[in-house]
Amino acid sequence: MRQTFVIVFALLVGVTLAQGPGSGPFVLPQPVSLTWGSQVVPISDASTFIIQSNVNSVTLNVATKRYSTLFFPFGNGTSTSGAPTQSLSIQVQSSNEDLALGVDESYKIAVDSASSLTITANTIYGAMRGLETFSQLLTYNPKSNSYSIPFAPISISDSPRFQWRGFMIDTARHYEPVNFILHIIDALGYNKFNVLHWHMVDAESFPVVSTTYPELSAKGAFNPLAIYTHDDIEEVVAYAKTYGIRVIPEFDIPGHAYGWGFGYPQLLAQCPGYAYNINNIALNIAEPFTYQVITGLFTEMAALFPDQYFHTGGDEVIFGCWLQDPSIVSWMNKMGFDSVHAETYFENQLTYILDGLNRTKIVWNDPFQNGVTLAPGTVVQIWNSADITQQVVDAGFKAIASYAWYFDKQQPMGVSTGEFENTWEVFYTSDPASGVTSNVDSVIGGEATMWSEQVDQMSWDTRVFPRALAVAERLWSAAYINDTNSALPRLEQQSCNIARRGVNSGPLEPDFCLIQTYLGMSRPNRLRPIIKLDRDTIKSILS
Ligand SMILES: *[C@@H]1O[C@H](CO)[C@@H](O)[C@H](O)[C@H]1NC(C)=O
Ligand SMILES: *[C@@H]1O[C@H](CO)[C@@H](O)[C@H](O)[C@H]1NC(C)=O
Ligand SMILES: *[C@@H]1O[C@H](CO)[C@@H](O)[C@H](O)[C@H]1NC(C)=O
Repeated sequence: MRQTFVIVFALLVGVTLAQGPGSGPFVLPQPVSLTWGSQVVPISDASTFIIQSNVNSVTLNVATKRYSTLFFPFGNGTSTSGAPTQSLSIQVQSSNEDLALGVDESYKIAVDSASSLTITANTIYGAMRGLETFSQLLTYNPKSNSYSIPFAPISISDSPRFQWRGFMIDTARHYEPVNFILHIIDALGYNKFNVLHWHMVDAESFPVVSTTYPELSAKGAFNPLAIYTHDDIEEVVAYAKTYGIRVIPEFDIPGHAYGWGFGYPQLLAQCPGYAYNINNIALNIAEPFTYQVITGLFTEMAALFPDQYFHTGGDEVIFGCWLQDPSIVSWMNKMGFDSVHAETYFENQLTYILDGLNRTKIVWNDPFQNGVTLAPGTVVQIWNSADITQQVVDAGFKAIASYAWYFDKQQPMGVSTGEFENTWEVFYTSDPASGVTSNVDSVIGGEATMWSEQVDQMSWDTRVFPRALAVAERLWSAAYINDTNSALPRLEQQSCNIARRGVNSGPLEPDFCLIQTYLGMSRPNRLRPIIKLDRDTIKSILS
């Protein structure tokens, strides 16, 4: 039965992929509006194809330089346009480079003729989204070694459904080299994600260098080479900005804090009865030195992460660990605290520290569930279940949904046959606003999470892709774009597009993806970013 289904389905898709009349261009995520015709616009060779912009923005210039390569994955090609040069014209309303939650990412594309190719946008970030969409309109013909845009004239008008389209990486369970984080940013940018949530430290390791508390990484990193310096962080933040991606750091406390104790053991609660699992060990919240270290570290980090939002974790605090430490118990007695009071006290301290740094706190849903009164404005990231989203938004908080998109897991869980096959469909049909009937606008988006106990740079791409394409479309496109059969050809095309750019994204069913190696060319190196920025450019982007 299953076999029959697969074969019939492959035949159907074979027809679609032949791009017969009516199929139109495959763009992922599906734009708000897309109309097309039946002409073919020839594209000149890469050496005479120019991307022009009406604004001079260092950040947008990096993006256009990158796409001037990405438009032509099979090399420069042979000119078929018949003109000495051909240009894509980018018209941006404002050259303002401010990147914040809710930045205008809308854009329009018009492919009218070989001499009229335009992207218009209100911001440079909308222009970047347009560049990605434009790249997906180009096709390559290996016989003539030339590029063209089929289905012209094309008119696209597009903007995202959700403001927060995040992806979480975990560099505590496995260190990811900086160049590989830049590669991850490439892969996210191709799919219009706009938040890199960087779960930097956890129980297992503390790779982040602090100049105020140098023992944190000196003793807490897996290896002296497995660290993130201030310069590294600046490079990541600047590189992400060239895709309109905001980088949000997470320091997960007071639970999951064992990694802080390699450098400064006095930061940890003493609870030997819980030591069988290092994830149980919490910070010693009774000790003033704990708040001193957090303040020093966060002050340093706020200078490196310009975004308004700062994630302080807060999940899975094991109260029993605190209750086993006599010094914490005597502090709690003195203060008249039970465990939830103690957690509330700690969360209030974090809010106070972040207020001083002009940062807004994000926490996982646990403190909310425990009954901790969170400060107004706190954003709650939901990892447990959909029904919590309703409670969070009804309590007046903004919500980010993650529970449906755990990339370390097969979804649905417990399916032992077929492994990861078709599990993208479950990701695809999971909506961040699922089950939310009031205050829906407070659901600002969602985040996929790649917890990395068993994933590093060798396996990251194949664990994440092509499944993340489903999340990308869910977060960008309208809620009613939810049919898996219509989505499949878009996902297949985009999986192939990004494979040509060096992302190891594989197929979703029997098909063929023409990659460079078939033509004797090499693919971009997966362990490096598409463009490496020099220090001056990084400083200029961040200024
Ligand atoms: C491709 O074009 C670029 C200019 O855009 C030029 O620098 C490069 O040498 C060309 N490559 C080949 C193989 O002709
Ligand atoms: C605080 O941050 C907000 C948002 O990033 C910004 O608009 C404001 O100017 C900042 N205030 C201060 C005092 O730095
Ligand atoms: C898809 O969207 C339609 C219209 O919004 C809705 O009625 C339907 O329940 C959705 N299907 C799934 C699987 O979510």
